[in-house]
Amino acid sequence: MSAINSFESHKIAFFSTQPYDRTFFNKYNKEFKFNLDFYETQLNPQTVVLIENASIVCVFVNDIVNEQVIKQLGEKNIKIIALRCAGFNNVDLEAAKKYGIKVCRVPAYSPQAVAEHAMAMILTLNRKTHKAYNRVREQNFALNGLLGFDLFGKTIGIIGTGNIGKAFAKIALGFGCKVLAYDIVTNNEMIKDGVSFVGLEEIFNSSDIISLHCPLNDQTKHVINTTSISFMKENVMIINTSRGGLIETSSVIDGLKEGKIGYLGIDVYEQEEKLFFRDLSEDIIQDDNIQRLMSFPNVLVTAHQAFFTNEALTQIALVTFNNIKSLLEENDIENKAALLV
Ligand code: NAI
Repeated sequence: MSAINSFESHKIAFFSTQPYDRTFFNKYNKEFKFNLDFYETQLNPQTVVLIENASIVCVFVNDIVNEQVIKQLGEKNIKIIALRCAGFNNVDLEAAKKYGIKVCRVPAYSPQAVAEHAMAMILTLNRKTHKAYNRVREQNFALNGLLGFDLFGKTIGIIGTGNIGKAFAKIALGFGCKVLAYDIVTNNEMIKDGVSFVGLEEIFNSSDIISLHCPLNDQTKHVINTTSISFMKENVMIINTSRGGLIETSSVIDGLKEGKIGYLGIDVYEQEEKLFFRDLSEDIIQDDNIQRLMSFPNVLVTAHQAFFTNEALTQIALVTFNNIKSLLEENDIENKAALLV
């Protein structure tokens, strides 16, 4: 069957869309010709009603795809939930199975995009380039307060050595760091490259920098908490580009106040769905934890932008369309990691 004109009868309802989503999905839809409906709003129990005559929904990291929503999607005859991201902790897979809805995702679109952002956060927190940029613009050429440290020779502990953790390990090794890793699966290729797989406790005990690259699930929720922080080195740097729920926010706030945590870089935040991907510059933010975090001079917050590169958005659009195409044509996807239900 030719791909041209094949999919015009299939409407995809996209939720939580930004202008760049529309640009990339419209661009790559030329070869598929799906019927696309873009909603800016998040998918949640209140917004499901917006869907009209679609058979597929396309969702992102902060859309709410719980049983209540999935039941309504089933009633609306939705056959496929296509995640345009890797993480799927926001989708009730059991409920999808129950209502006979297929769920697919983009398992690896650009691990380098996220790994490079994690390193950018480390370099920014360490060398304070964000402060230097502002200082120099105000003709303040003093160095006081900008003191950093050499990354060379420091120990970086990585939790989760999948696509992103592996890419990040390569970058860290390139900087001359000693790399420790913890994962439920040991990666022999990484050991050959010079990475040491150790227990979680040794990651906490021995790392100058800890970078989180595991998914959020029942085992990993709040892996950074008061107890794990108590095992860590004084002045440790913690980087989270994975999912907000890996960190118990109140514990890191305490760790920062006590000076135990020397630096914190987060691209994700436990309550981010109420904040991220929006311009709230005129609003009064009610979330006191994020306000407290942003008030520390040694905390860097970015708003879930680690994935945000040209290469990643291209891959996301192409893989999402190809996943849907495979499910429509063969009821299956060759890359098993892409098919969740
Ligand atoms: P992946 O599936 O390739 O790797 C995840 C790794 O975590 C696997 O090696 C797995 O064995 C390991 N893991 C699972 N349970 C674990 C546990 N209990 N303890 C330690 N390790 C465990 O996933 P990938 O592509 O590397 O992505 C990692 C995470 O990064 C995603 O789950 C997602 O939440 C996040 N992410 C964030 C983005 C951003 O823009 N900030 C963009 C893309 C992904």
